[in-house]
Amino acid sequence: MTNKRIAIIGAGPSGLAQLRAFQSAAAKGEEIPEIVCYEKQDNWGGLWNYTWRTGLDENGEPVHCSMYRYLWSNGPKEGLEFADYSFEEHFGKQIASYPPRAVLFDYIEGRVKKANVRDWIKFNHAVRWVNYDDASGKFTVTVHDHNNDTTTSSEFDHVICASGHFSTPNVPHYEGFETFNGRLVHAHDFRDAREFSGKDILVVGSSYSAEDIGSQCWKYGAKTITSCYRSAPMGFKWPDNWEEKPAMEKVSGNTVYFSDGTSKDVDAIILCTGYKHFFNFLPDDLRLKTANRLASADLYKGVVYVHNPKMFYLGMQDQWFTFNMFDAQAWWVRDAILGKIDVSAVSKDDMLADVSERETREEADDDVKYAIRYQADYVKELVAETDYPSFDIDGACEAFFQWKKHKAEDIMAFRNNSYTSVITGTLAPVHHTPWKDALDDSMEAYLKN
Ligand SMILES: Cc1cc2nc3c(=O)[nH]c(=O)nc-3n(C[C@H](O)[C@H](O)[C@H](O)COP(=O)(O)OP(=O)(O)OC[C@H]3O[C@@H](n4cnc5c(N)ncnc54)[C@H](O)[C@@H]3O)c2cc1C
Ligand SMILES: NC(=O)c1ccc[n+]([C@@H]2O[C@H](COP(=O)([O-])OP(=O)(O)OC[C@H]3O[C@@H](n4cnc5c(N)ncnc54)[C@H](OP(=O)(O)O)[C@@H]3O)[C@@H](O)[C@H]2O)c1
Repeated sequence: MTNKRIAIIGAGPSGLAQLRAFQSAAAKGEEIPEIVCYEKQDNWGGLWNYTWRTGLDENGEPVHCSMYRYLWSNGPKEGLEFADYSFEEHFGKQIASYPPRAVLFDYIEGRVKKANVRDWIKFNHAVRWVNYDDASGKFTVTVHDHNNDTTTSSEFDHVICASGHFSTPNVPHYEGFETFNGRLVHAHDFRDAREFSGKDILVVGSSYSAEDIGSQCWKYGAKTITSCYRSAPMGFKWPDNWEEKPAMEKVSGNTVYFSDGTSKDVDAIILCTGYKHFFNFLPDDLRLKTANRLASADLYKGVVYVHNPKMFYLGMQDQWFTFNMFDAQAWWVRDAILGKIDVSAVSKDDMLADVSERETREEADDDVKYAIRYQADYVKELVAETDYPSFDIDGACEAFFQWKKHKAEDIMAFRNNSYTSVITGTLAPVHHTPWKDALDDSMEAYLKN
């Protein structure tokens, strides 16, 4: 072991990718630093670690989970498969393409159980503060250990922030919210679509949460769904009881008024208005400030914090690619820490130029296929610079293109399609039950032949 110490904040898919990256180097006989991963929840998996709780957790910490019952993957699993741990290796067979949350949680967990890295994680440990001392060149990380109710500080050579950015809700205010006579909730606190069975609901927003929460409510028996958009409609061929409206202007009693002069009486308003990059444990000089975009601000190679290159961030981009992109980043960060990639040789100006080139390239086109290819190119770039197993990233793009086509054809049936694994080359089976009829989202139900 080298005498360096590394702190990882968060044991979600990104933090776990980092643990696996170091463990795989150790398994090849390389010397690795001491790794301490702090996780505020009592288990790993990040957003995939479902809880019924909302608001504050059992320790008084903000609940991290933004996932809900009945959540199924919104993209094909063939786009996110780990290159070093296939679905077939984990489940002993090929499985259908849009697994429910519990199935993906099991898959994420399978790889890190096999890697035997659980002991590197301190659960129920919330990071409270990090600071960097120029003189010593070290970070001090202050952590609240909820198991023992103690707060301690220790020194590290590097900090890797993998705390996610889809957990702190962006909650706008509209006139009349104070006196709305129904349920008013942000997607972060939405848990069970059955609550809205028989109800008229409004979902505010036109991105994935609006689409998926509206679809869940439709599936579990909402009477009507109205969705409203600020910039552009989702534009799918919605079922008869789903209507898409332009921006909400105000609410009065139970009536919502829209910018086209129409109105609708609703029982519930679900704000699917996105999330904030929020790091209340980081001082100004270490804290990433970025919009939710593919080219994150201030991150050289998408991972090195340009204002202090000893600090790294994982998974801070908006995401077409997820698990495999976190892997590509984690392997790259590992090699930067191990000195195989020399970050110290890159000047701050060159880092900023790298960020700016990525931003310009992202902004060059707003076509969806362009965006998917853009992120695929980023994954390719990082994979080429480490020993992460290379895989057919263009093939993963093809799965995403098919997914987009299937959604345009039938938004309530796209999850009935299957795609070919770019890791094992096998075609996924067609799921035994169409998504709209599959009300049981348990792993047992999903894996049944
Ligand atoms: C509703 C929803 C559905 C999604 N569905 C999909 C999907 O179908 N497919 C897909 O590929 N992606 C999906 N995503 C995207 C998701 O961002 C990624 O799959 C993945 O969870 C990101 O991993 P992460 O480790 O970067 O962050 P997270 O999963 O958010 O994990 C961050 C971890 O950091 C911990 N943490 C945070 N702050 C602290 C602190 N101060 N101290 C200690 N620990 C801390 C948290 O407890 C958490 O465990 C979805 C996201 C949302 C919000
Ligand atoms: N089943 C699943 O797998 C699933 C389900 C849900 C979410 N997710 C994931 O969760 C992540 C976050 O998705 P998201 O949809 O929550 O966030 P998002 O993609 O950031 O979208 C936020 C939406 O809110 C709108 N909005 C923001 N502020 C608003 C305001 N003040 N008034 C009205 N509208 C406002 C935005 O409109 P503008 O376009 O005008 O900015 C946008 O439509 C994504 O990675 C997604 O894939 C996955």
